Amino acid sequence: MTISIIGAGKVGSSAAFNILRFRIDDVVLIDIVENLAHGEALDMIQTAPAIEFDGKIRGTNDFSEMEGSEIVIVTAGEARKPEITRLDLMNKNAKIVKSIVKEVVKYAPNCKLMLVTNPVDIMTYIAYKESGFERNRVFGMGNILDTLRFRSYIAMELNVSREDIRALVIGEHGDSMVPLVNYASVSGIPITNLLRKEQIEKIINLTRYSGSAVIKLKGSTTFAPAAVIAIMADAVLKGRNRVMGVSTYLKGEYGFSDVSIGVPVILGGNGIERVLELELRPETKKLFEESVSIIKRAIKKLKLDE
Ligand code: NAI
Repeated sequence: MTISIIGAGKVGSSAAFNILRFRIDDVVLIDIVENLAHGEALDMIQTAPAIEFDGKIRGTNDFSEMEGSEIVIVTAGEARKPEITRLDLMNKNAKIVKSIVKEVVKYAPNCKLMLVTNPVDIMTYIAYKESGFERNRVFGMGNILDTLRFRSYIAMELNVSREDIRALVIGEHGDSMVPLVNYASVSGIPITNLLRKEQIEKIINLTRYSGSAVIKLKGSTTFAPAAVIAIMADAVLKGRNRVMGVSTYLKGEYGFSDVSIGVPVILGGNGIERVLELELRPETKKLFEESVSIIKRAIKKLKLDE
């Protein structure tokens, strides 16, 4: 099997289902809870005759079943609750991710490793450090989801098709995210030509807090993250060189090092093929710097050895 997903909760199992139904590849679904991944796998396979996919899925508690995977996706850990931020989750999930990375290094040492567990920028940093993998092979899903939300709100405000919106969000996958207004367009028309300043500010606010808004309403976010996990897996597996915001360990890009944060990259067969360094306006640069500082401060508070 080429794709393994660790964590068969809401996001992991929905991502597995998308990977099957979009016919991207077969999936191994792993969880520590007895029978959970087996049950999810069985449930999914029973939809195959209706949706007509031939992919295979295996649910298991055995980490060795990820052996030889080309992509390992980590969705294991605690999810946000309305009253806690992504950063509050940090130390608990850090330990879980650290222990999973050990298994990944053992059983799938050549894989591309995608982190989803929150706070995703910190988990990407831990996975990069703990795995010893080259940085192109360790990346986090966050900004692409923020971008979907940004695109959706622009489309809603203009009452145009979501398909025609192109945009980017960089920075922390969290409250300090930076939607890039001057790189957002509607079929190539800059949004600044179509929307007033107050409308753009409203869209940015909605984007920034839309994850929390969904969590307040239904307890977690599932469908949107699961869809973008499948898109990222497809980009890597098929070497599609998609351009998107991905949490990446920086080595001097944008003037920062030793931090993982969302930046635009080309995502292809080798994982991160290239980090794209964009010219940022002074006010945007300042916001990005603040976002980096938040992540760096959080990294300093990591307690991995207790
Ligand atoms: P969930 O609670 O439904 O599922 C988590 C699963 O992880 C559970 O089934 C649990 O048994 C499993 N697990 C815990 N420790 C494990 C271990 N050591 N090995 C294998 N499995 C283990 O949570 P949900 O909603 O699926 O969210 C999962 C994570 O993804 C959370 O941290 C959440 O905040 C994050 N998330 C990230 C997003 C992003 O944009 N990066 C978007 C949505 C969720």
